[in-house]
Amino acid sequence: MSKIVSVVGLGYVGLPLAVALCESGFTVNGLDVNSEKLNQLNIGKSPVEDISDSQIAQLIRNGNLSASSDFSKIVNSEIVFICVPTPIHTDFTPDYSNVLDSAKSIRKHLSNNTLVILESTVSPGFTRNTFIPLIKENLLPNTNNVFFAFSPERIDPSNKKWTIKNTPKLIAGESPESLEMAVNVYSKFIDKIERCASLEVAETAKLLENSFRLINISFINEISVFCQKIGIDVIDVVKAAGTKPYGFMPFYPSIGVGGHCIPVDPLYMSSKAAEVGIKTKMIDLAIEINQEIPDYFVGRAEETVGSLASKRILVVGVAYKPNIADVRQTPVEALITGLRQKGAQVSWHDDLVKEWNGEKSVALSSDFDLAIIATPHDYLDLSKLGNVPILNTRGSV
Ligand SMILES: NC(=O)c1ccc[n+]([C@@H]2O[C@H](COP(=O)([O-])OP(=O)(O)OC[C@H]3O[C@@H](n4cnc5c(N)ncnc54)[C@H](O)[C@@H]3O)[C@@H](O)[C@H]2O)c1
Repeated sequence: MSKIVSVVGLGYVGLPLAVALCESGFTVNGLDVNSEKLNQLNIGKSPVEDISDSQIAQLIRNGNLSASSDFSKIVNSEIVFICVPTPIHTDFTPDYSNVLDSAKSIRKHLSNNTLVILESTVSPGFTRNTFIPLIKENLLPNTNNVFFAFSPERIDPSNKKWTIKNTPKLIAGESPESLEMAVNVYSKFIDKIERCASLEVAETAKLLENSFRLINISFINEISVFCQKIGIDVIDVVKAAGTKPYGFMPFYPSIGVGGHCIPVDPLYMSSKAAEVGIKTKMIDLAIEINQEIPDYFVGRAEETVGSLASKRILVVGVAYKPNIADVRQTPVEALITGLRQKGAQVSWHDDLVKEWNGEKSVALSSDFDLAIIATPHDYLDLSKLGNVPILNTRGSV
């Protein structure tokens, strides 16, 4: 008989995890608070690109996966994975409300020997000092032995090369026993497991990975501006530097960082740093540089077609990165706002996103004064733009 586990939060992280668990023989009790998402899943519609509708339909039909908001179903689960969002407040401090709510929802239903694994990105110390006590101190009277682990998710939506299976997984346990319980389950569907020395090491490693990415993206965006000013293509420069077999890792220019992780997670690091009385100057500067990039391209648009007043501009691709439909924190929004502030008539095309901010994607056509390639999805056929001048945010010429 297959083992029953629960996955709380069926989004970009939780749903692929739930599918991987089903495929390795677990029966997954999927839980979410978004009734629209649950309805979609129950009629076999996948909300994430990497999981197909037919995969979901089959898993639901066969009873391998269920999707509901009935947290009492947790009672039969040997393991509960928490994959809920961790955004930031308007003052840039961590917003743990979803994690705290999920902890409160599950704690009434945990049985003895259940392992609870937090996958959401959090600041160092949060799992040990806030998450675990919130659950442990409020268990049912007959439940006294619950185990805890933290294992940050590294999923990169739409990445075909690095998947859940072949991306090494960091795991830390509250105790050696919880660590081995978590290693045991992840080993069933992930090739390589890396045990971390403590919960705090795993929490900080995740923040380091995403801060590293933010800083390097901001650095290459700055270099891209420099290359444009001296009349060379930054892509040629990165390719040339990339021939060095050690000590260099290529990053490529863009309209800036977006999504639920890269612009957000470094702020979890900054916030913790402030708590212990230090500054994260590199992170702060990287955020500042990235925020300037959309405006830089508004300026480049003016250089290309002159005054933007009444110019018809098509922004191509509005998702925060290619080949996905995710518009969370997309830097393209700042680009569109900046162009409109200069009086441009802006339309956008993105067949993956289709509808966004009350507007609809328009067709690629030659009916524009300028096209700005913001997010180059693979499906785009730019020949449909005819002779429209193109400004490409992914290079510097
Ligand atoms: N998206 C990524 O590429 C990615 C990669 C690595 C790590 N992460 C981290 O993983 C976590 C989840 O991110 P995501 O992108 O999957 O978010 P998401 O928004 O795609 O999905 C989260 C889901 O959790 C649900 N939810 C919110 N509160 C809930 C609650 N109290 N109980 C049950 N369900 C609840 C939401 O309705 C949503 O469906 C975050 O901490 C994020 O930083 C995300």
